[in-house]
Amino acid sequence: MKKTFYQLDRVLTEYADIWRTSPFISSCPAWFQEYPELTEWLLALSDDEVDELQGDDNLLCQKVAPYFPVAQEILSLIQLPSCEKQPSLERSYAWQRDVPGRKVEQIEAFSAAIPEVSDPLLEWCCGKLHLGRYLAEQFNLPVLGLDINAKLVEQANQLAQRMKSNARVEQCDALTDEAKSKLTSQQHAIALHACGGLHVSLLEASVEKKVKRITLVPCCYHRFNQSGQFHPLSKDAQASCLKLENGDLRNAVRQSNTASDRTIIKRKKLQSWRLGFDRLQREIRNVDEYLPVPPISTAILNGSFAQFCEHVATMKGVKIPEAISVEKYEALGEKRFFEFSRLELVRMTFRRALELWLVLDRVMYLQESGYTCSLTQFCSADLTPRNILIDAVRC
Ligand SMILES: C[S@@+](CC[C@H](N)C(=O)[O-])C[C@H]1O[C@@H](n2cnc3c(N)ncnc32)[C@H](O)[C@@H]1O
Repeated sequence: MKKTFYQLDRVLTEYADIWRTSPFISSCPAWFQEYPELTEWLLALSDDEVDELQGDDNLLCQKVAPYFPVAQEILSLIQLPSCEKQPSLERSYAWQRDVPGRKVEQIEAFSAAIPEVSDPLLEWCCGKLHLGRYLAEQFNLPVLGLDINAKLVEQANQLAQRMKSNARVEQCDALTDEAKSKLTSQQHAIALHACGGLHVSLLEASVEKKVKRITLVPCCYHRFNQSGQFHPLSKDAQASCLKLENGDLRNAVRQSNTASDRTIIKRKKLQSWRLGFDRLQREIRNVDEYLPVPPISTAILNGSFAQFCEHVATMKGVKIPEAISVEKYEALGEKRFFEFSRLELVRMTFRRALELWLVLDRVMYLQESGYTCSLTQFCSADLTPRNILIDAVRC
C-alpha cells in the first residue's frame, strides 16, 4: 500500500497544476495547448457520454488515456479488491420499511465485506443506527451507537426497541473526550460515511484506546476539520510535497452518481447561469477575472435569468448598466457550461487518485500505530461513490 501511495503521490504532485485548475474559473486552462487532441475529443462528447464518464472513474480513465497517457497509470493505481458479496440475512419487510433506499444495500454490502465479527461493536456517528441494528442481529452482538443529533438518537432507540435489538444509541459529540471514553480495547469500532474530522477523531481515539478492530468507510474529507486545514495523519503523507487544501479534499468526493435526475438538472442549470453571470461581470467590470460567488440555493431557478443576475450582482456589489441586455449572457452561459462540463473531465481523471491518497494516509497511520489493514471496494459506485472500506485489526 505504501508503494501505491508513493506512486499516487508522484502523479498528483506532477499534475497538480492540471487537477487544481478549474475550467469553471478559467475557460482556457493551460493544458489546452499541450493536449490539443484531448481537447478536440472532449469537445466532441455528447451530453450522455459526459454524464456516463462523470459517474465512472475507471471508464473515464480508460477513455481519456489515449489522449492523456497518465490516465492509464491512474487507472492501474486506483484498482482495489472488490468485495461485492451476497448479503447473508434475508431482507425483512420491517428492515426495508425503516431504512431508506440505497442505505439498505450499502449496509448489507458493508456487512458482507466483514464476514467474521466477534467483539462488541461501537458505531461512530451512527445516525439512526441502521448499520448497528443490522450487525447486532446478524452477529448476535451488543452494539452501542454514538451520534450528536438528539432527534436521530431518539428515533434510533425507538427502532431498536421495536426490533428488540441488542443495540442502543447515546447522544455524544464524536469530537470530544466523552466520545473517546466510550472506546475500549475489547471493542470493534465501525463507521459508515463518517465525514472527515469525525472519522479522524475515531481513528486517533481508537489508536489511543488500543481498540481491537476498526472498520471504516470514510467520506467528505473536507468536513469537520477542526483547524479548518487538512493535516495528514501518517508520517509518509506528512513528509509529502503535496499540501492539500480543503478545496482539494472537496474535489476528491465530487460525484453525483446517486443524486436524482431532477437534482442533477437543477445543478446543471444553476452552473450554467453562474457561468452566464461570470461572462456578464467580466464585461461590466472590464476585468477578465473570475469573481467568486457564494453558494446559491437552486430555488433561485424559479425566477428568470435576469433576476438571478440582479441578485448576484447585488451580492457582489456590481452595478448592471441599464443599457446592457442580460439575455445574451444566458446563451453564453450555456455555451460555457457545455465546454466546462467536458474540460472538467480532465480534473475528474484525478478524483479517485486523490481519494485513494487520502484513504492510504489513514491506512498508513493505522499501520504505524500497530494495525494490520486491508482495503476493499465494498460496493459499486452506483450504491455510493464513497465505497472504500478500511478494515484494521490490532496486531
Ligand atoms: C453522513 S451521516 C452518516 C450516518 C450513518 N453512519 C449512515 O451511514 O447512515 C453522518 C452522521 O454524523 C452525525 N454527526 C455529525 N457531527 C457529529 C459529531 N460531532 N458527533 C457525533 N455525530 C455527529 C450526524 O448526526 C449524522 O448522523
